[in-house]
Amino acid sequence: MQTIRTSEELALARSNLEGRLALVPTMGALHAGHMALVAEARKRADTVVATIFVNPKQFGANEDLSRYPRREAEDAKMLDYAGCDLLWVPSLADIYPPGFATTIHVAGVSERWEGEARPGHFDGVATIVARLLLRVRPDLALFGEKDFQQLAVIRRMVSDLSLPVEVASVPTVREADGLALSSRNAYLSPQQREQAVAIPNALEGARAAILSGTNVEDVLEEARASLLDRGFSHVDYFALVDSATLEPVRRPQGEMRLIAAAVIGTTRLIDNLAV
Ligand code: PAJ
Repeated sequence: MQTIRTSEELALARSNLEGRLALVPTMGALHAGHMALVAEARKRADTVVATIFVNPKQFGANEDLSRYPRREAEDAKMLDYAGCDLLWVPSLADIYPPGFATTIHVAGVSERWEGEARPGHFDGVATIVARLLLRVRPDLALFGEKDFQQLAVIRRMVSDLSLPVEVASVPTVREADGLALSSRNAYLSPQQREQAVAIPNALEGARAAILSGTNVEDVLEEARASLLDRGFSHVDYFALVDSATLEPVRRPQGEMRLIAAAVIGTTRLIDNLAV
């Protein structure tokens, strides 16, 4: 695997590439979830490019930008092992040169849930993803269902701007007990790590209850209470939504998703489940 840092190196490497190209954008601190994206990319393209960039524009002022885990050497080894061909680690100045003034805002689908809890977050995500897509010009870009609303925002942007790329999604990779893999799990104490499994458990329980016909609002209320009961200090949201629009669903119909975000200690965890 070749590691690229500058724009010039990227342009040169890109011009030498032939065949179908897949892009896997990441913020590093890689785990088996990211590797599942690389494996899917490997299957579906001739060349796989991964990026590692901890994008300041998608972090709020009081969020974890400064403590976000950074371990490029290990990440590079994992990517190499998974069959990634090129790793681009752009500098801040490369992505946002002085004077950079453009923001991409995807209305509607970005506004509720994560958008409400993290103002500006999806503008930062849309802007960086567009930037990476336009620089790398892949045929295919892969994103995890773990960040379900992010996936919906990116799909909307790619469709609205007719960006010439296919967006593919990969199911959430989980620990043996069901906790979704996340770079932020590293923040959890051993006790919090045990308690965190309450999120996937609550999602599974809610799915079963909804499918058996229990009133949706009652199910969601019970799920929220169960998280608080099991050590979470705050539930940002626990909702049943339409999979495409992310609008709340009151009576089960069509493709739906349960989505959740809750805080344990100083760590905010998100997860979701198809219904
Ligand atoms: P990051 O959190 O590093 O995630 C990179 C990609 O890995 C995303 O598409 C995410 O959904 C996926 N992913 C994370 N955990 C996963 C899991 N357990 N199973 C499957 N896929 C998983 O998401 C971002 O970075 C950034 O917002 C980014 C898109 C790179 C833009 O900065």
